[in-house]
Amino acid sequence: MPGNGSAELLTWASRELATLEATYLITPAFGDYWRSLKAFDAQVVPCPMPIGIETDIAVAKEGFAAARLCFPEMAGKMGLLLNNPHNPTGKLFAADAIAPLLEQFALVVVDEAFMDFLLPEQQQSLIDQVQNHANLVILRSLTKFYSLAGLRLGYAIAHPDRLRRWQQWRDPWSVNVLAAAAGIAGLGDLPFQQRTWEWLSQARSQLFEGLSALPGLQPLPSVANYCLVQSEQSAVQIQQELLHNSRVLIRDCLSFPELGDRYFRVAVRTLEENQRLLSGLAEVLQRSPLD
Ligand SMILES: Cc1ncc(COP(=O)(O)O)c(C=O)c1O
Repeated sequence: MPGNGSAELLTWASRELATLEATYLITPAFGDYWRSLKAFDAQVVPCPMPIGIETDIAVAKEGFAAARLCFPEMAGKMGLLLNNPHNPTGKLFAADAIAPLLEQFALVVVDEAFMDFLLPEQQQSLIDQVQNHANLVILRSLTKFYSLAGLRLGYAIAHPDRLRRWQQWRDPWSVNVLAAAAGIAGLGDLPFQQRTWEWLSQARSQLFEGLSALPGLQPLPSVANYCLVQSEQSAVQIQQELLHNSRVLIRDCLSFPELGDRYFRVAVRTLEENQRLLSGLAEVLQRSPLD
């Protein structure tokens, strides 16, 4: 089912999650999960994922195992909302690690908004499980990989009965004709997909290595088109100075309560733009915070 961005479909998934006793949510979590779950007064149980471990690999085996410890054994009346790859850390959960949870939880919603950034053979999608699991919902977005944020287009893959129910709830005509046309063109554009994968692996390595070399910064390995960076100095101060000196805006992580002022997130961009970010950061960091 196409939607007005995956955010619209998340709203309907959350309406269903809210009918359950509780929804388990790995944190830090994308802010819109809180918005949509709260809109229907869902009970949310945050499950913290330690992010300071596994700095050498992007697949969050230990982090996922640690977050799983908070899932109840008897979860027959509970829901689970997962994000894979995970925003804001850029970590990937193995499909094999998620699949057993389909037997445990009444409803599992997996937001795969950033999955397209992985090569097809590296993706850990659960789409092929939908056929056998009526309690699974997959959300995908065209905002990220296809850079179509303003057009608003995403889709859900789930049991047809569930999607028919959602159809009764939503506003009519939620996907506009331009978004539909761009979506069809984008999804069929194999050369664009190939170019994007080639660009990303090169540009992300350059960014990761450049950030690692800067004093006081520790980027987390990411499979997505962004990178979460741990900082010894205040991220907000770095953000302000970088904006002032270089006209580059990095995203602070104050909206993720678990991260606060010692983290920021940066997008992977072109090689030149990444270099501009790295040079700007180097300039800011070489000054003492008291200067
Ligand atoms: C993890 C995640 N899921 C979903 C979305 C929403 O995407 P869309 O533009 O398709 O509504 C975002 C957007 O930032 C996101 O970060």
